[in-house]
Amino acid sequence: MESGAGDNKSQKDTILTINISSSVFSVILFLLGGVISAILITNLGIVLPTQKFTSGTTELSTLPNTEVQKFDYGLRNWPVSPKQKSSDVAGEVQAAVHQALDAHTQGKKEKAHKLFEHALALDPHHADTLNAYGEFIEDEDIVRANHLYSCALIANNSHSRALTNRERTSAAVAEIDKGMFAKVDDKQLQMGQQISENSRALQRAQEEFLYLQIYHTTAIEGNTLSLEQMRSIMETGLAIGGKSIMEHNEVLGLNLALQFINDTLQHRFGKITVNDILQIHKRVLGHVDPITAGNLRTTQVFVGGYIPPPSVEVNDLMEDFVDWMNSEEAASLHPVEFAALAHYKFIYIHPFIDGNGRTSRLLMNLILLRAGYPPVIVKLSQRGQYYETIIQANAGDIRPFIRFICNCLDDMLDAYLWLTSDSLDGIPEIEEGRRLVEEM
Ligand SMILES: *[C@@H]1O[C@H](CO)[C@@H](O)[C@H](O)[C@H]1NC(C)=O
Ligand SMILES: *[C@@H]1O[C@H](CO)[C@@H](O)[C@H](O)[C@H]1NC(C)=O
Repeated sequence: MESGAGDNKSQKDTILTINISSSVFSVILFLLGGVISAILITNLGIVLPTQKFTSGTTELSTLPNTEVQKFDYGLRNWPVSPKQKSSDVAGEVQAAVHQALDAHTQGKKEKAHKLFEHALALDPHHADTLNAYGEFIEDEDIVRANHLYSCALIANNSHSRALTNRERTSAAVAEIDKGMFAKVDDKQLQMGQQISENSRALQRAQEEFLYLQIYHTTAIEGNTLSLEQMRSIMETGLAIGGKSIMEHNEVLGLNLALQFINDTLQHRFGKITVNDILQIHKRVLGHVDPITAGNLRTTQVFVGGYIPPPSVEVNDLMEDFVDWMNSEEAASLHPVEFAALAHYKFIYIHPFIDGNGRTSRLLMNLILLRAGYPPVIVKLSQRGQYYETIIQANAGDIRPFIRFICNCLDDMLDAYLWLTSDSLDGIPEIEEGRRLVEEM
């Protein structure tokens, strides 16, 4: 990063010659966001829960090939193996749902909410509860209601009422999702028009932004380097006394991986290969674990409660994965959907012993960059939501994860709209961008 000034110079040339924001993002934002966002998910895999993955490998191993339907990709016929609840719990769930419905009729919405949440906490896979809660919140949050109906159907695919509810709400939810994508597309366009090649203030702000991001990212993954220490490493390349080599190496490896991607981005717009992914990973982990860096795993890994596919399948799964990445189907998705799905599918395969989260995030950002968007950054404050939506994807509905990624992108665009704006106030997204940056 010590070559930051030089990079900015070359960015200007690029900006001048290519009028779409893609190149702007691919250089400026990639450096600013990518490094960091890549760092931050080191430990992502660890939170992958899920009983869904533990039962039956046949259906699961075909997941990366699964046709992803535009508005229906949440519902896969994954084997569901809800733990047998004791009759005590079943009774308590039923009681809670009854009370919730009572509270609802009495107009006590808050209480009803709590009771539904309580029932779901007792048994997250109870179709009736999921469906009833969906009906309860449908007026205020149709997107979540539709998600709950989907979950109800995953738990019981012959739950006719959930099916009716889901069918009734799906079109509206699809429209909302479309609107969400349209919103980031508008901002991306605005960003491309607004960015100016000689904004010193922008460059300074971006640098600051970079350090703040690095701080958050590493805080998320448990890296103990402080903001100031991170800044120092990035600026001077010098080590921080008392901090582990590993923590330093994580930063250095990602920097190398980003440079590699930056170069392939600049020179090659063709297909992504398995080898490209290995090369990325080699750099991500090269300093940390030179032995496994750049190599697909040859052993079974266990990630929390999640058991990724057997290592003998990893090769084929990765070939399928890149086939999908290069497919017409993937190209027909909105880039945010594409990027988020790639992230998720990659995490599902878990092709490496370590560094899966970082590599998947790099891939996701690569897809976004190729489409002219900035890379997404998950902030420390969003960590819970990030993991939660991955858990929801594991449970069979990936749309919350896609929405989450889209929101991250929306935030990034707001932040950059503020940073590149001449008029610093008045416009809602610029105000929002300012707030987002200030919060960081
Ligand atoms: C699934 O839902 C249907 C229809 O609502 C119901 O009759 C059936 O008992 C449910 N199955 C299970 C396993 O709960
Ligand atoms: C990214 O690529 C551009 C063009 O190839 C180059 O000028 C720039 O130095 C690269 N940045 C990094 C960090 O490698």
